[in-house]
Amino acid sequence: MRIIQITDCHLLADPAAELKGICTRERLVRVLDALREELPQAELLIVTGDLTHDERAETLQALRELLADWLPRVRVLPGNHDDRGFMRQVFGDIILPAGERNVFAEFLGNWRLIGLDTQVPGAVGGEVGLAQLDWLERQLEVSPRPTALFLHHPPVLVGSPWLDRIGLADAPALWQLLVRFPQVRVVCTGHIHQEMAVHRGGALVLSTPSTAVQFRPESESLEVDDVPPGYRILELEDDGSVRTRVMRVVAAGGPPAG
Ligand SMILES: [Fe+2]
Repeated sequence: MRIIQITDCHLLADPAAELKGICTRERLVRVLDALREELPQAELLIVTGDLTHDERAETLQALRELLADWLPRVRVLPGNHDDRGFMRQVFGDIILPAGERNVFAEFLGNWRLIGLDTQVPGAVGGEVGLAQLDWLERQLEVSPRPTALFLHHPPVLVGSPWLDRIGLADAPALWQLLVRFPQVRVVCTGHIHQEMAVHRGGALVLSTPSTAVQFRPESESLEVDDVPPGYRILELEDDGSVRTRVMRVVAAGGPPAG
């Protein structure tokens, strides 16, 4: 079963607007064109937050239009830059509301897929929160099937002090819960605009490059990296094993490079 993760699109209402010298709309279109060409049959396309940069409804509507041919195979989670209410207005058909949070939880093949909402409105860092930890515990109790977890903020230190200061505040509480549910095989995140893969307990913790601006790994403060945007392919096998790789999209219409 093949799933695609994209993250940190940081779209702006003005299609030509730039963020750190990069047109985020053009970069996303480039990534989606590559996906259409390479992986049109993927089961799901999961967008793990920072859908928009300006938190506007019209920007989310533009995103929905860009993803039109993937609907209803799209799942969206909020990052620190998204408005939950507008997300429900624009993507209400694919969002599961849990209290104020926008999440998802479903079976797909032999797997269970769960998306968490780690937004703290007005803050850059995130947290799962006690109520959502309870919700997650109930979701994990539903089935021992292999499970993939998706959330915006990585629940591990990433080696860049400035990013580790704006990470997931209650990561220890999340791990305290996950250690009881070894079926969680993979945890997929965004937020740090770079590729990462680390093992934590029995889980593989991943982050995926932004579809737009990249951050340089292991930097003390924000440094833009000049690597191309990308996406992640997750191959979730029936036996619970995971194969994954990041694909970089080098130019409009050009071939992606691994
Ligand atoms: Fe971001």
